[in-house]
Amino acid sequence: MNLAVMGLQWGDEGKGKAIDYLARDFDVVVRYGGGHNAGHTIYHEGKKVVLHLLPSGIFSSGTISVIGNGVVVNPIELVKEINGAQAHGASLGEENLELSLLAPLILPEHECLDIVFENSRYIKIGTTRRGIGPAYEDLVGRRAVFVRDLLDKDTFYRKVKPLNEYYNKLMMANGGGAVAVESYIDEYTKAGAFLKKFAKNTIYSLNRYYREGRSILFEGAQGVLLDINFGTYPFVTSSNPTIGGLCTGTGLPPGAVGKLIGISKAYTTRVGEGPFPSELSGSEGEFLRVKGSEYGATTGRPRRVGWLDLVALKYAIMINGVDEIFFTKMDVLDEFTEIKVVTAYEYAGKKTDEFDPSIEFLDQVKPVWTSFPGWKTAISEIKEYKDLPANARHYIEFIENFISAPLRYISSGVLREQTIKR
Ligand code: GDP
Ligand code: IMO
Ligand code: MG
Repeated sequence: MNLAVMGLQWGDEGKGKAIDYLARDFDVVVRYGGGHNAGHTIYHEGKKVVLHLLPSGIFSSGTISVIGNGVVVNPIELVKEINGAQAHGASLGEENLELSLLAPLILPEHECLDIVFENSRYIKIGTTRRGIGPAYEDLVGRRAVFVRDLLDKDTFYRKVKPLNEYYNKLMMANGGGAVAVESYIDEYTKAGAFLKKFAKNTIYSLNRYYREGRSILFEGAQGVLLDINFGTYPFVTSSNPTIGGLCTGTGLPPGAVGKLIGISKAYTTRVGEGPFPSELSGSEGEFLRVKGSEYGATTGRPRRVGWLDLVALKYAIMINGVDEIFFTKMDVLDEFTEIKVVTAYEYAGKKTDEFDPSIEFLDQVKPVWTSFPGWKTAISEIKEYKDLPANARHYIEFIENFISAPLRYISSGVLREQTIKR
């Protein structure tokens, strides 16, 4: 059965670890959205590898990795990442790596504009400064340049030249400098020549795999609360990490998604600006950040940390139809005496269990907490659910009861083996 794996919070839930654990059983792993703003950490032969554009199944032999049409691609970064993965022992050829011809490109102008806007008088989002927003804007604005265009130098030049003029005006009006097309055209087309053998009409190849009954794993990037439509707007990314993005980013019909596994940390993190009702400050927050190594896999920024928000989690589950939860980083809570979760909000003097993603709501709410005694035991080496401390099991069972979805996998460490399947 096909499987979709999706982050249910603000990204960095441990999707890489979960997918690396699950991917062994799949013929195809496909990324459907986002770009190299994503950073998915996996461990291969004891070494840490962070993947940004390549799907997290690249180290499983026999698995075909697909970068779908919903992904925005910086070709220079992709070439670097392919070379890096080969150096780590991945064998990537045209038979097991496919790049959609229809994937929009990230150009140097997009990255510059992202930075100009972040530094300007406009609202600061705390983006990864990778040009993600401007690249998706071009797609919606019907002026995007695609992987297909990169394969021929004349076509590429013809398409980027007017865009470049448009962007240079915009950047200069906002305190930035101009970018010359000539400064990157050779490097980009060289990357295009390298990527040519991987470039395919993945809409057809994916549908062929589906028809042939080959098993497909959909690898989500980012998380539900960063979704452009359902997230904490405007502090979101510019794509749909949620269920709809999975179809528009691959060309596979909704029926192709067999099961959906949502990933949630045992607590919450967020990188960048935006509301975060259960955020922890002070020494408790610092302890959680250090114990959980909560520093961005892409930008190295310290992640903001807080307790698990079950109102937000229930909302994420509701809009996607999540079947099971892969619950990560339980071990990070090992030393706490008291663990809290949000079970409702207080807004305008009233209690509510509905999540409204607007900042007007989230900036005003007060969390209603439920408290649990900690387990004060190291759980990383435990293999069986029944061997977990009673307080840890109590925490897990309270959550699954509250959200009405089973916590099927409990992750207790960075390694593939540190996963308890129930
Ligand atoms: P992703 O973007 O969802 O793939 O997550 P990231 O890779 O950005 O961040 C998750 C971090 O947590 C990585 O450093 C993982 O190695 C780490 N991690 C994943 N699962 C666990 C776990 O169960 N316990 C601990 N201690 N770390 C974990
Ligand atoms: P993975 O796949 C965590 C956040 C950024 C910023 C906002 C907009 O590793 O979970 P963008 O550069 O996308 O325009 O930034 O979204 N963001 C992520 N946070 N994990 C991610 O990906 C993220 N991708 C984007 O920090 O707040
Ligand atoms: Mg990440």
